[in-house]
Amino acid sequence: METKLVAFNKPELKGNVVVPGDKSISHRAVMLGSIAEGKTQITGFLDGEDCLRTIDIFRQLGVSIERDGTNVTVDSPGMQGWQTPSEELYAGNSGTTARLILGILAGSTIKSVLTGDESLSKRPMNRVTLPLSSMGASVVGEPDGNLLPLTITGGLLSAIEYDMPVASAQVKSAILFAGLNAEGTTVISEETVSRDHTERMLQQFGAEVQVDGTKVSVKGGNVLRGKDVLVPGDISSAAFFMVAAAMIKGSSVTFTNVGLNPTRTGILDVLTNMGACVEILEEVNGAGEPYGTVKVSYEGLHGTEISGDLIPRLIDELPVIALLATQAEGTTVIKDAGELRVKETDRIAAVTTELKKLGANIEATDDGMIIHGPTELSGGTLVSYGDHRLGMMAAIAALVASAPIQIEDPSCIAISYPGFFTDLEKLAVSINTKG
Ligand code: S3P
Repeated sequence: METKLVAFNKPELKGNVVVPGDKSISHRAVMLGSIAEGKTQITGFLDGEDCLRTIDIFRQLGVSIERDGTNVTVDSPGMQGWQTPSEELYAGNSGTTARLILGILAGSTIKSVLTGDESLSKRPMNRVTLPLSSMGASVVGEPDGNLLPLTITGGLLSAIEYDMPVASAQVKSAILFAGLNAEGTTVISEETVSRDHTERMLQQFGAEVQVDGTKVSVKGGNVLRGKDVLVPGDISSAAFFMVAAAMIKGSSVTFTNVGLNPTRTGILDVLTNMGACVEILEEVNGAGEPYGTVKVSYEGLHGTEISGDLIPRLIDELPVIALLATQAEGTTVIKDAGELRVKETDRIAAVTTELKKLGANIEATDDGMIIHGPTELSGGTLVSYGDHRLGMMAAIAALVASAPIQIEDPSCIAISYPGFFTDLEKLAVSINTKG
């Protein structure tokens, strides 16, 4: 198995990081480009493993997709022209691919089987298959359509009004995509607003989507047309280096072209609440998605509470926020984040186990973590659980640890940030790879 030994060898972090394209937006750009008729040119696409799985699936459906690095051209006959795939559709490790594609395929004209890797095959799908079934979709699998593999037989759907029991953009997006092919207007209500990239991009592609507070509706039956998409940098990837800059005395790092969609910027609020200096140096309102330049500088850290409406705005950042809290004065309480237990791995269990190995004072609760700081972390060997965000958290921990950290199985980091170690090395560390 591959391992990486990360050792921090700079007194502070200074510089600029250009993080790769946003994972959520990259998936949606390929999906909408494939649903729409004609050409969609995507710039800044994330060439990470998860998004490449999405491309592969639409190619299997007969959509022409050419990729040259981060430039992707999708040329689709539209959904009505898709062909039945000769093999199973493989979503790999990607929950977004699986759940959103279920919503898309439910209203298509084809029959297909969707599979995933070991981790994805354990993750709950009934949060999507139950509302889809009530729209008339045929999605069959064991037990009760909850786990991959699932067989989807596309057909005409009926609009529903759906109150979401969990704040999940994946569920919301799957229902919105299904609603495109449903008779009537589908209305979804969320208790807390989750990331809204699907709503924004659907509007860009010409769908009739209305957003009213926590309610979103989409009218079925419209044909979408291809559209160019500019993908900003992923704030969830930038978060790792933002946390690093906030933890190390004397540091100041800028992030250019980073997504600033307010449904995703919870990390900036938490950094500010904990005492770091966060400056938005420039903000541009690009086609549908705001982005800009952010500077994060060290100014000391203190504990905070992270809960409620803030959680969906930083759900993927919570592993590295837990690390941040180990360096803050006082107690940090993370609650209302039970969703962490059904991510790529149980992130509450994994984060507490790994940070404890370094001597952190952290305890798991049912729906979060409690961290007492500050603690000087030791070096050691951490495992990634095949979870990209756990792997990156381990590497960032090396920047504040008293000795190097060995990361087992770091290859999963390529799921969302293929150039992570190159950027880390430029900014801060020496890395030895074995195996
Ligand atoms: C995503 C939504 C979130 C997030 C995931 C990406 C998306 O999942 O954790 O990494 O692109 O819609 P949930 O919808 O399950 O919260």
